[in-house]
Amino acid sequence: MSLLIKGARLLGEDAADVYVEDGLIREVGSVSTTADETVDADGLVLLPGLVDLHTHLREPGREDAETVLTGSRAAAAGGFTSILAMANTTPVTDTAEAALRVWELGRDAGLVDVQPVGAVTRGLAGEELAELGLMARSRARVRVFSDDGRCVADARVMRRALEYVKAFGGVISQHSQDPALAPHAACCHEGQLSGELGLPGWPSIAEEVIVARDVMLARHTGSRVHVAHVSTAGSVEVVRWAKAQGIAVTAEVTPHHLLLTTDLLAGYDPTFKVNPPLRPAEDVEALRAALADGTIDAVATDHAPHARHDKEHAFVDAAFGMLGLETALSVVATVMVEGGLLDWAGVARVMSANPAAIAGLDGHGRALAVGEPANLALVDPSTSYVVDRGASLSLSRNNPWHGRSLTGRVVGTWLRGARTFGA
Ligand code: DOR
Repeated sequence: MSLLIKGARLLGEDAADVYVEDGLIREVGSVSTTADETVDADGLVLLPGLVDLHTHLREPGREDAETVLTGSRAAAAGGFTSILAMANTTPVTDTAEAALRVWELGRDAGLVDVQPVGAVTRGLAGEELAELGLMARSRARVRVFSDDGRCVADARVMRRALEYVKAFGGVISQHSQDPALAPHAACCHEGQLSGELGLPGWPSIAEEVIVARDVMLARHTGSRVHVAHVSTAGSVEVVRWAKAQGIAVTAEVTPHHLLLTTDLLAGYDPTFKVNPPLRPAEDVEALRAALADGTIDAVATDHAPHARHDKEHAFVDAAFGMLGLETALSVVATVMVEGGLLDWAGVARVMSANPAAIAGLDGHGRALAVGEPANLALVDPSTSYVVDRGASLSLSRNNPWHGRSLTGRVVGTWLRGARTFGA
C-alpha cells in the first residue's frame, strides 16, 4: 500500500508532499510518484501520530463503558497512534499475563498501538510490588507503572518501586494525592465554592506534598518519576524546581485542566467530577504557562469512560472521570495554538515526541522524515465545530466538552501507513 499526502504544512511550517510505502515515509518534498491513496492536504497541518500517556480502556471488567476496540476507535479519531492503557481494570493489570492480554486486544483491534501500563502494587492496594520485572520482560514490554487513581502513598513502597524499575529504564507515573489530606469522600477542589456547595473538598496541598516527596525520592534513587495530571500551580513550582536540580522528573497535564475551572461545579453536574478535580483559573493559567515553557512535558487525556449508571448520580456519589481522546487535539489547538502559547511544532512535542520518549516507545513521536514510520495525524487548523457527545465513538457519554465550540480538528490518522480514521 502506498499513500501520498499532498501539500500539507509539516508541523504547521512549509507545505510539502509526503509519500509513504510499506508503512514508512519514503519521500518528503515535491513528489511526482503516484500512490494507491492520494490526499489533498492543502491548508492542513501534518503532525506525527499523537501518543496518549493516560487512557482508561475498561476491558477487562467494564466492557459496558469501553472496550479496547471502542477506545482504539476513539483514539484514532483523535489523531492518536499509540495509547497507554491504565492498569485499573478488573482484574487489575498487575501480572505479565494480564498485561499481555491487553496488548493482544490492542493488536487485534489494529487501530492504535495499545501499550499496557502495569500496576505498581498488587491489586492497586499500595502494599506489595506487582510483577514489575515480569511485565517489563513480557512481550507487552511494559515500561510505565501506575496505581493511577490510588496514589502510592507509602514512601517505602514508592522508594522500592523507583529502585526496581530503574534496572530496565521504567518509570513510575504517580497520581499525586496524599490520602490523609484528600480523604476518600473528597470530590472537588477545596475552596470557597466547595464550602458554598456543601461538597467535601480536596485541597491543592494534597497533590503538592506528594509531588515534592516523589521528586526527592527520584533524586535519592536516581530513578525516573512521572507526575500524572498536574493540576495546581504549587505542583508546577515543585516540578520546575526539581528540573532545575537535574532530577529525572517529567509531568503531564490533561486537556480539561487546561480549560475547565472549578466554577463549573455550581450546577452539581457530575460530568465535571474528575480526579484530580477541576481547579480555579489561577491554576489553569499556571498549567498553560508550564506547558508552554516545557516545565510540563506532555498533554495526556485521562480519558475515563463511565457508564450512565455510574456517572448519573448525586455529585458526591458519581464516578470520577471524563472522556478526552476525541477532543484532546482540539482543546490544545484552541487553548494553546489559538492562544498564542504553542506553535504546531510545540503541539507535536507535547502530544507526540515527549510522551513517546517518556513511555519508551521507539516507533512513535518521530520526525516527519524519510525512513521514519508513517504514524501520522492530519489536522484542519481553522475549522470550528460544536462538540456533540452523541457523535462520539466511545461507548460512554460523560463528555465535558458537549455543546462547546472548539477550533482545530483531526481529519485523518494513519498507523504505519494504514488509514485508521477519516474519509
Ligand atoms: O477522574 C478519574 N478517573 N481519575 C482517575 O484517577 C481514575 C479515572 C477512572 O478510572 O475513571
